[in-house]
Amino acid sequence: MFEKSDITVQDTYGANERAVVFSGDCIDLLRDIPDNSLQLVVTSPPYNIGKEYEKRLDLNEYVRQQERVISECYRALSPHGSICWQVGNYVDKSSIIPLDAILYPVFAKLGMKMRNRIIWHFEHGLHCRKRFSGRYETIMWFTKSDDYKFDLDPVRVPQKYPGKKHFKGPKAGQYSGNPLGKNPSDVWVIPNVKSNHVEKTGHPCQYPVELIERLVLSMSDEDDWIFDPFLGTGTTIVAAVRHGRCGVGAEILPAYVELARERIESEIRGELKTRPMDRPVYDPEKAGNSLRHSPWSGADESQLKLG
Ligand SMILES: C[S@@+](CC[C@H](N)C(=O)[O-])C[C@H]1O[C@@H](n2cnc3c(N)ncnc32)[C@H](O)[C@@H]1O
Repeated sequence: MFEKSDITVQDTYGANERAVVFSGDCIDLLRDIPDNSLQLVVTSPPYNIGKEYEKRLDLNEYVRQQERVISECYRALSPHGSICWQVGNYVDKSSIIPLDAILYPVFAKLGMKMRNRIIWHFEHGLHCRKRFSGRYETIMWFTKSDDYKFDLDPVRVPQKYPGKKHFKGPKAGQYSGNPLGKNPSDVWVIPNVKSNHVEKTGHPCQYPVELIERLVLSMSDEDDWIFDPFLGTGTTIVAAVRHGRCGVGAEILPAYVELARERIESEIRGELKTRPMDRPVYDPEKAGNSLRHSPWSGADESQLKLG
């Protein structure tokens, strides 16, 4: 059994390493990764919306660049492996273009099979005035073949009615649910990393560790390789190392390379603070939060006009 505390973060890929943060373009890192060697690729790519780390590209050029990376990930993916591409919307002159819709054909052309389009729902974000505020992104999950690794047990969630029993038939009187919990479904309610989230760093769009833990635990085994071509703050490798997998990723901006290394090293020391996978979403009603009381209840319409 490999001891987490023995891991040192390397900067070049080697089959015997456990954690690799490559400083540079993911295509350069992918050249070093052998065919069929990765069990899971998880990433949130740049969305081409003009964040500090991306040059806004023409949409066709963006798709061509993504296609290059996705094809290389496919080459390096094990026949039993999965790719999870976490995306939101590209915004063009205030009209939205869902990136999963425009990237789906890239995966389909490679012959990959989509297993789920997971809705990641969160409750905080920008307030829109001319459309409904966006409160979800998606994870496109594809496999390379029909013979793919998938284990529900480590990611089951509590049953809604654990006391429910079969009421007729040969199992009448026995509990009907799985004692390990139920399938978490394809709609995941997990807080996004905003300013008051325990994982927040200076990076503008981290995903939460718990989101990736679910994918790592259900789609890979211990000692498998997990890869993130657009590593950002190292979240994917944190989730991999936490669960005894090997993690490798590339990040093009040196400041984020440094941040990723620090977070992974902190995880190795057992010091990284993250939101636990099994913590229910904060419910202000249940918590008795006084801000739940409306100052306007009982006011007439003229008092409700703001500004
Ligand atoms: C959406 S962020 C990923 C954030 C990450 N999921 C996390 O939790 O921190 C995308 C990252 O990809 C990096 N990036 C952009 N193009 C890249 C490339 N060609 N190779 C490697 N990294 C790249 C950006 O600098 C940015 O940090």
